[in-house]
Amino acid sequence: MSNRYVIILAAGKGTRMKSRLYKVLHPVAGKAMVDHVLTQVEKVQPDMIETVIGNGADKVKELLGDRTKYALQSEQLGTGHAVLQTEKDLGDKDGITLVATGDTPLFTAATFEKLFDFHEKEGAAATILTAHADDPFGYGRIVRDGNGNVEKIVEQKDASRSEQEIQEINTGVICFDNKLLFENLHNVKNDNAQGEYYLPDVISMLKEQGKKVSAYEMADLSESMGVNDRVALSKAEKIMQTRINEQHMRDGVTIVDPDNTYIDVDVEIGNDTVIEPNVKIFGSTKIGSECIIGSGSRISDSEIQDNVEVISSTIENAIMHKGSNVGPNSHLRPNAEIGRDVHIGNFCEIKNAKIGDRTKVGHLSYVGDATLGTDINVGCGVVFVNYDGVKKWHSNIGDHSFIGSNSNIVAPVEMSDHSFIAAGSTITNDIPKHAMAIARQRQTNKEDFWNRLPLSNSEDWE
Ligand code: UD1
Ligand code: CA
Repeated sequence: MSNRYVIILAAGKGTRMKSRLYKVLHPVAGKAMVDHVLTQVEKVQPDMIETVIGNGADKVKELLGDRTKYALQSEQLGTGHAVLQTEKDLGDKDGITLVATGDTPLFTAATFEKLFDFHEKEGAAATILTAHADDPFGYGRIVRDGNGNVEKIVEQKDASRSEQEIQEINTGVICFDNKLLFENLHNVKNDNAQGEYYLPDVISMLKEQGKKVSAYEMADLSESMGVNDRVALSKAEKIMQTRINEQHMRDGVTIVDPDNTYIDVDVEIGNDTVIEPNVKIFGSTKIGSECIIGSGSRISDSEIQDNVEVISSTIENAIMHKGSNVGPNSHLRPNAEIGRDVHIGNFCEIKNAKIGDRTKVGHLSYVGDATLGTDINVGCGVVFVNYDGVKKWHSNIGDHSFIGSNSNIVAPVEMSDHSFIAAGSTITNDIPKHAMAIARQRQTNKEDFWNRLPLSNSEDWE
């Protein structure tokens, strides 16, 4: 097998996106488009990957790190000019170079691999990955001669009327004999409608030199979709979403309404988990087996272990251990760690807090900056008062303790094991083991109060 190289073009600004974010950094299913391309390219394990950067170069580099080499194209003079910037690293190499663009997020490694293999088998100087498009507008068209052999690629803006009717398009992915590619790139001209140096012009040049040019038509057009504007971005998102959801379903996840379920590409979900409609799962979230993720939930960058139930809740950067549950309508914020078989009920907010196994926080509570032990009962409406206006303070609650409803725990407080807080207390001091703290005014009943009221005899007061 010859050496294999990949060049990813990602220097363009993406004017048609009308965005402050550079085009190739726009996410599809939570991952930047150029990252999708690189991820698939990596699976092919080429001998070298080089990404051409320009607009937003620092941001692209920051994102992709040392997974690829880089070449800087400081002025964007076209795709041919872009490829030429890699000459320093690649120009003298023997082998096959696949050029891909950073705005085609749906390609799979399998397709790249097939193209490499086909190109090598054909012994071609260049092989274009083509597809049939019902609406080919915007793409370069594949012009073939009377014998069906590829003659050239003509861009939308340069195409004659009859060429515009051609529905076979250049997907933007082309394999080249590496040396021939660089030899010819120097002679590409920019005398076209856009005044750019087009990479596809190398195709007609190779033809004129009598070299073999092949085309490999892919069956699935959707894979090759290029994203130039937000309409295409939403279509790509939809296709990617369908692909992701179908994969999870094949792996044993029940997705009740796949059209309304949004799962980022790197999310993991165990089998026999049920995802109800209108759920979003983002980032690096991992969900275990036999969980229920109820309608309206949003989960990002979190770990949800087996047998967990999440009902209409928002979870970010949090961990839920086995058998725990949350919701409806609760919010687990960063660094919330929910222990095994814990119950977090409705309208609770947990932030930077650890909740020990089997503890219950049933209703309307805020737990911020606290460590709760095991088997604790937190009554309704308990507030961990963690902020004094300047600094956040931490409280610790011992195992098997009981916090009465509507209590305020003004941090920092140490509450020992097996201790109690009477309902309605505002706790500012530590509580020793086995004690009960009451920190509220005692109730007094004003006897016979009714009869002392001036109006008590009028009929209105009956
Ligand atoms: C390109 C192809 C077209 C193909 C389509 C497939 C050319 C001339 N046209 O058109 O035949 O059908 O892709 O999606 O190749 N880029 C640079 N430097 C530049 C110009 C572009 O790095 O100077 C990068 C862009 O960031 C982008 C990619 O190359 O990722 C493609 O550029 P774009 O302007 O989107 O080309 P298309 O018009 O889509
Ligand atoms: Ca494009």
